[in-house]
Amino acid sequence: MTKLGIIGGSGLYEISGLTETRWEAVTTPWGAPSDDLMCGRLGDTELVFLPRHGRGHRESPTSINYRANIDALKRVGCTDVISLSACGSFRDELPPGTFVIVDQFIDRTFAREKSFFGKGFVAHVAFGDPVCRRLGDALEGAATEIGVPAKRGGTYLVMEGPQFSTKAESHLYRGWGCDVIGMTNMPEAKLAREAELCYASVAMVTDFDCWHPGHDHVDVAAIIQVLHDNAQKAKDLVRALVPRLDDRPAVCSSGCDRALDTAIITAPEA
Ligand code: ADE
Repeated sequence: MTKLGIIGGSGLYEISGLTETRWEAVTTPWGAPSDDLMCGRLGDTELVFLPRHGRGHRESPTSINYRANIDALKRVGCTDVISLSACGSFRDELPPGTFVIVDQFIDRTFAREKSFFGKGFVAHVAFGDPVCRRLGDALEGAATEIGVPAKRGGTYLVMEGPQFSTKAESHLYRGWGCDVIGMTNMPEAKLAREAELCYASVAMVTDFDCWHPGHDHVDVAAIIQVLHDNAQKAKDLVRALVPRLDDRPAVCSSGCDRALDTAIITAPEA
């Protein structure tokens, strides 16, 4: 059975038709998640929402406890995790309002805890294909159904922030072939893989970053305006997504649920 975790903005859980809703406090060995988890049910599917920055937007991209967030979702039994986040665009053809169903990342973050493993217990999970194909297919179908402009596939550059990029950085990342930029999908995606969760990401374009001749700086007020417009579409996307997740295969065709099978290299204790 699918239990769908959704990491996104607060308010995403205000979806019509969501029943049996309750906030659940979850503790983890990694500390506290960004907030309590909002659990509920849409039809037969159990959903768990986690406001990534906490209600009231209290956590910065750097201060988010990504390990606690992923561990909390795993602990309450989530099988699948969808990430929804705001991003800047490096492409004229991906204007604000576009949803990018990301399939690659470049991780430029440097001030975050990135693994559940480390000294004493070492693991190296495969990450060549960092998102779950089945979830990507379902998201693509859902985006088509609700008519949101969406692109399947795209490279998301994850920067540390909290400041936005310089123009030199923005042009560099465009030159690297990146499609969008944001501050939150790493190490989230890496940790989801280590936790053997199926994970996919929808990056919702709010701005053109600063490379664009017509938009030479990023403006938070403008971003927030587009964020509000994207928020309703994000709720519609979740509603259209849920029925598409019903026929969950016994094993994930992308191998997300077996990521640790060949990854742990520390010898078991005698
Ligand atoms: N989030 C939204 N827009 C962004 C941008 N241009 N750069 C980084 N993160 C973002």
